[in-house]
Amino acid sequence: MNDLFARASGRFGAGALRRGALVAVTAGAAVLAATVAFAPSASAGTTLGASAAEKGRYFGAAVAANKLSDSTYVGILNREFNSVTPENEMKLDATEPQQGVFTFTNADRIVNHARANGMKVRGHTLAWHSQQPGWMQNMSGTALRSAMLNHVTQVATYYRGKIDSWDVVNEAFADGSTGARRDSNLQRTGNDWIEAAFRAARAADPGAKLCYNDYNTDNWSHAKTQAVYNLVRDFKTRGVPIDCVGLQSHFNSGSPYPGNYRTTLQSFADLGVDVQITELDIEGSGTTQANTYRSVVTDCLAVARCTGITVWGIRDTDSWRSSGTPLLFDGSGNKKPAYTATLEALNAGGTTNPPTTPPTTPPTTPPTTPPGTPGGCTASVSLNQWNGGFVATVRVTAGSSRINGWTVGVALPGGASVTNSWNTQATGTSGTVTFRNVSYNGQVNAGTTTEFGFQGTGTGPTATPTCTAS
Ligand code: XIL
Repeated sequence: MNDLFARASGRFGAGALRRGALVAVTAGAAVLAATVAFAPSASAGTTLGASAAEKGRYFGAAVAANKLSDSTYVGILNREFNSVTPENEMKLDATEPQQGVFTFTNADRIVNHARANGMKVRGHTLAWHSQQPGWMQNMSGTALRSAMLNHVTQVATYYRGKIDSWDVVNEAFADGSTGARRDSNLQRTGNDWIEAAFRAARAADPGAKLCYNDYNTDNWSHAKTQAVYNLVRDFKTRGVPIDCVGLQSHFNSGSPYPGNYRTTLQSFADLGVDVQITELDIEGSGTTQANTYRSVVTDCLAVARCTGITVWGIRDTDSWRSSGTPLLFDGSGNKKPAYTATLEALNAGGTTNPPTTPPTTPPTTPPTTPPGTPGGCTASVSLNQWNGGFVATVRVTAGSSRINGWTVGVALPGGASVTNSWNTQATGTSGTVTFRNVSYNGQVNAGTTTEFGFQGTGTGPTATPTCTAS
């Protein structure tokens, strides 16, 4: 669901839409164009979701399917929140309990509830070292790599079009001062497992925003934060599809809210990705807890690309850390001081309109390329294959002079066909398929490389692709 549609449906910032109409009769058309989507708040919202929507954000909660029959729980959910994250139901052990056997019953209950009530869905999570089914825990090497990519592809394809943002990879970095990757069976399949997962997710659901999600990445001076920052910067530089960074933000005395939190949010945003606070909970009580919630919300609203906040549960008793009473509602469903502070901060915060456009998809118009001296190019392909499908990554390298455009021919084996592609415009789906550059990657400097990719059914290509420069 796009934002405008969601707003029109009533849950997303109906107030903003109404104010937009008001502006239409009281101000000139030029002003209307700039203000209709996110007019400055004239009247404060009265729920978390409505107030966030007035600022162009969502406010979500982690939801457990088995609580959807609890009327107090559902009452708060429907009144206050306009985004949900399944707390456990989309994890690997839940969705693929046996290899190749996918179960979506509990996840569907949450997704259906969300869609029926105009809420966004954050998908959590496609690839993670934890909560793996037993069969996957026992796997390694190329078998695990293929199984992981197949999982990403199958789950993201099943939910294609229904997910606002996917936590494609969760918690891949180690704690402490090293900035290293976390050791795991997935990490041992090769350092490129994260980007392989992101490419497979993009191929499966090109409309979903793709996030990297982690904890202890809130303090800008921590090595783990810097390591994630470097990963995202590298992905953006090399054209690996990534749209957002999720900061879990589980705060307690051992892992407190840091004074440089806003710097962290802004620094990630400056890389050209959205930032989402994905699993917020703050242990404590009373005014201290309320003030920390206020700070987190104020920081998010100060960063244009901080597009939403999700709290990790509804009532304190729903929390995975219930003894820390870290949420906005008490066990009876009453609003805590933390709730009031959060709502006040949402209503008081900046009115910056974050970008709401979906992730970049290849343009359908032919690319225009600047004039220049044509040079040669070469192309090579690397494959992630599983039984019945593959994801191909193609590297286009310019020869001794800069090129301004490229056309790559890939010969597919009999029975294979292309189902998706990214960072390219494809012609044909079987036999020899032609891939052309799009507007932003036609120009390749001498000796340097750009990448595009495609997904297909059947067996992937084995022959070296042809490359023609223009
Ligand atoms: C937690 C759930 O809340 C618990 O119910 C479950 O037992 C364990 O996982 N980081 C994450 C979440 O990304 O998936 C975790 O959720 C909390 C930490």
